Amino acid sequence: MSTAEVNISQNFKMTKLEKKIHKQFITKFERESILIQSPGRVNLIGEHTDYNDGFVLPAAIDKTIVLAISPNNLTKIRAYSVDMEESEEFEIDNLHESNKHWAKYIKGAVSEVQKEGHHPRGFDVVFGGDIPIGAGLSSSAALEGAVLVGMEELFGFGLSRSEMAKIGQRTEHNHVGVKCGIMDQFINLHGQENKVLKLDCRSLDYELFPFERDDIKIVLCNSKVSHNLADSEYNVRRAQCEKGMEILKKYKPEIQNLRDVHMELLQVHKDEMSEVVFRRCKYVLEENQRVHDACNDLKKNDFEAFGKRMFQSHEGLRQDYEVSCKELDVLVDIARDQPGLLGSRMMGGGFGGCTINLVEEEQVDSFTETIRKKYKDKVGKETEIYVTQISSGAKVLER
Ligand code: GLA
Repeated sequence: MSTAEVNISQNFKMTKLEKKIHKQFITKFERESILIQSPGRVNLIGEHTDYNDGFVLPAAIDKTIVLAISPNNLTKIRAYSVDMEESEEFEIDNLHESNKHWAKYIKGAVSEVQKEGHHPRGFDVVFGGDIPIGAGLSSSAALEGAVLVGMEELFGFGLSRSEMAKIGQRTEHNHVGVKCGIMDQFINLHGQENKVLKLDCRSLDYELFPFERDDIKIVLCNSKVSHNLADSEYNVRRAQCEKGMEILKKYKPEIQNLRDVHMELLQVHKDEMSEVVFRRCKYVLEENQRVHDACNDLKKNDFEAFGKRMFQSHEGLRQDYEVSCKELDVLVDIARDQPGLLGSRMMGGGFGGCTINLVEEEQVDSFTETIRKKYKDKVGKETEIYVTQISSGAKVLER
């Protein structure tokens, strides 16, 4: 029996995915590694508010990336994606552009860490996972988080979790071209089991709310579409919010972002902006308020009220923010009529991906069956449905 096999068999607590990644690392690089587990996320409410300095209510979930990492005594990063079956190499002091999408996140995270004045040495990584790609569950933030937690563990830069989240966000901005907010990276690095996190995206202060109702499940329905528009329209929405801000700032210079704007002010200056910019801003103001209200619902354990706000959020995203699409609207419409359904909305950036649904546990089976059937009938596509658990943020796995 080889050393590798001995090590694997001793790690009886590993999940199948962890074993697979651990083994692949040994096969490729013939030595041990540490393992990082890094989750995807859901967002219960508060969509497109993060880059407006607003509030969001995400949670980490039990769909994860597992990443094996180890220093290599070289001046290179050697990376392997198990799911894509692709390798990439970078010279650590001369990071080149990669045409492999997944590799941009690794190179980007390293480059952004270097910009902060840190000096990662050479390392090898192997990763894979079960977060569906393009489903709006933030597999990219999970990869960024995994690489950052991995580098921190190997080299001890002393980065806090919030600093890592900002570095992850800059990775998206500067190396992927998506001007995203901080939500996905933050929850990936701060999530806790059975808790949703209300984040103030300006101060990065947060409050955790227990989400432990055994009788209510978070059910994700994957539309299985990801329209090309997603990234470009995302940046357009951001620019439209900034446009609205510029106009309002003339009257109230102390305003830093839409977060500081009251509805009255927006209404007063409605005619000075295009109708589209007005609707975008109105949606953001309303959605921010919904996050506060939804948290009060949680405090009162009032999931019926919470669910209603999810529907309102979807309406705002569909009509005013215009980031939904036919497939997501169909999923929400079918869900609306199902017994045991408390709330349903599109989730994440939009133009595809998943809807998030709160469903009474005893109705989950009939809910999933009906959604599958009706979605197929109406859209001609199969949906994929995930009943998720709220899990912890990115962490080094103890072995
Ligand atoms: C994407 C971005 C986030 C956030 C959501 C919309 O997931 O990465 O920063 O803006 O869209 O709420």
